[in-house]
Amino acid sequence: MANSVLVLGIQWGDEGKGKIVDLLTEQASLVVRFQGGHNAGHTLVIGEEKTVLHLIPSGVLREGVICVIGNGVVLSPDALADEIAMLEKRGVPVADRLRISGACPLILPLHSALDQAREKAAGKDAIGTTGRGIGPAYQDKVARRALRVQDLFNLERFDEKLTSLYNHHEANLKRYDVETDDLDALKKRARDYAKLLKPFVCDVPGLMEEHRQAGNRVLFEGAQGTLLDVDHGTYPYVTSSNTVAGAACSGSGCGPNAIEYVLGIVKAYTTRVGEGPFPTELFDDNGAELAKLGNEFGATTGRPRRCGWFDAIAVKRACLINGVTGMCLTKLDCMDTLETISICTGYELDGETIDHPPIGADDLARCKPIYEQMPGWQSNTAGATKLEDLPAEAVAYVRRLEALVGIPAHIVSTGPERNQNVISVHPFA
Ligand code: GDP
Ligand code: IMO
Ligand code: MG
Repeated sequence: MANSVLVLGIQWGDEGKGKIVDLLTEQASLVVRFQGGHNAGHTLVIGEEKTVLHLIPSGVLREGVICVIGNGVVLSPDALADEIAMLEKRGVPVADRLRISGACPLILPLHSALDQAREKAAGKDAIGTTGRGIGPAYQDKVARRALRVQDLFNLERFDEKLTSLYNHHEANLKRYDVETDDLDALKKRARDYAKLLKPFVCDVPGLMEEHRQAGNRVLFEGAQGTLLDVDHGTYPYVTSSNTVAGAACSGSGCGPNAIEYVLGIVKAYTTRVGEGPFPTELFDDNGAELAKLGNEFGATTGRPRRCGWFDAIAVKRACLINGVTGMCLTKLDCMDTLETISICTGYELDGETIDHPPIGADDLARCKPIYEQMPGWQSNTAGATKLEDLPAEAVAYVRRLEALVGIPAHIVSTGPERNQNVISVHPFA
């Protein structure tokens, strides 16, 4: 029996992590975010009500669940304030449920301004970031000049550090002609940030250990996806954090033995938002059909997501990097109308067949997918909760993906709602 489950994206994000975290929190007492920031957009659908979360963990709608933002997350107090207000307006008692590590680096308005200005200046070489300041904030973290949540509680010292951070960025802000808060405005803002964050700050590693010792169930919630990982993804078209399983420990403060089950969330086809290579991308009617049925628009920026066939080569490698125990295949129902379905089973690069993705974006962009075809099921799977209710062709498709990836699909998701799933093995069982 697993007492701790890590939920991770296996492709380029938006696999349906939020929905599954919300589902599994029925059994958990703690949900922990450990990387990324408000570049994430995690969608929860409960009955008629849709909630999109960017920074607050996807357990917040459940009574009795504590939601933790770990040290690996870059935190924008402005985005947090907006999200808290949105939830409180709906009657969610966020103050009772949220905890934040004092070691989270802050995203300040100058970070998002720099992110957007840099993207604009990059022209055709832009990464297609969410413009939320994620990259510049992580840059400051590793350069050891970041301001962290804890710094807000000694405002005299905070002002000194802020002044040196501002001086560091001033030349670039001028070069890009960026409009953002000046130093005095930032200092003023910091007073509000301190008031906002103070009640939530806690000793995260200590809290996690307390829950572990008590035998409580803990969920780790990944953001983005493995192919966007800064080391293992399609560099440089990636985000600026480690999105893989290994980051759950460093981004929250626990050891590897604190994770007993890794659930890889895998879309039954592939999507990507932003720039970068995507070997199985479709530009035909099938791509348009997936975009339509899957309603493939970014939950954070609203940008249309690029759509393509399932890439077993990329998913297999991503599962290996994460030590995935079981897959959750999502959005199977969004393939209901397709006549024939293709699966990428290999890449051709320079006349040779390869069975794992090359390193980095340039070689991947030259890879040609090798496909096998399967018949579509052309019937309705939406909302199915039993394997017997799925058409034989849909089951055959799931079985083929399991065989190609080498990992069982313990959950198949058949709709956006919490309970639209075929569960064969429950991760907490
Ligand atoms: P996340 O970032 O991984 O949490 O995923 P997003 O929320 O950005 O995108 C997933 C989208 O698909 C959301 O609109 C979900 O409500 C929706 N979704 C999740 N699972 C399913 C599913 O099995 N079927 C359908 N039709 N929609 C799903
Ligand atoms: P969730 O958690 C999909 C993508 C951006 C861009 C690249 C870098 O909802 O799955 P960044 O702003 O992080 O510097 O952008 O990463 N990206 C995502 N794509 N889902 C996400 O999060 C993403 N977060 C970042 O589109 O290509
Ligand atoms: Mg998303």
